[in-house]
Amino acid sequence: MSRTIAALKRDHANIAKLLDILESEILAIKVGKTPDYSLMQDIMRYLTQHSDRFHHPKEDLIFARLLKRDTAIRAEVEALIEEHILIGLAGQEFAGLLCASGADTVESREQLGASGQDYIRNLREHMSREEGKLFPTASVVLTKKEWHFIDTAVDAINDPLFGDMTADDYQRLYRLITE
Ligand SMILES: [Fe+2]
Ligand SMILES: [Fe+2]
Repeated sequence: MSRTIAALKRDHANIAKLLDILESEILAIKVGKTPDYSLMQDIMRYLTQHSDRFHHPKEDLIFARLLKRDTAIRAEVEALIEEHILIGLAGQEFAGLLCASGADTVESREQLGASGQDYIRNLREHMSREEGKLFPTASVVLTKKEWHFIDTAVDAINDPLFGDMTADDYQRLYRLITE
């Protein structure tokens, strides 16, 4: 397995943990409890400022090559590339609602819950299609030379939450996940 595919799968496992935490906070909203807004904001900050800016571009490096090499999955690859944009926009919208959550009205909680659930469902489904189909296809179709190029480009990216050094901003989130 290429280093990049292994790294992307690690990213997915970490994102899945964050989505589980986010989901449990949204369930708290549904049963009338006050969620941990600060924790949700930390998670969305990671997902919108790191995953959208670094995880998805790593995949786009792979997808751009797949588009040239395997026309049979062209439609699927194009859909995933478009979803990177849509997930980014949906994440920003949800993060915006979280920032406005200080008002904390019944309407704002319902809107927040619905927006969060859509975001979680779409991102889980997106990752599942990547792992189930696109990563295995890319592993077979792309050449060693292409993987070397991709691996080198990806190596330069440091993860502020799950990398070797956890940035101060993410200490609380990191502790919660690894407890
Ligand atoms: Fe993706
Ligand atoms: Fe992904």
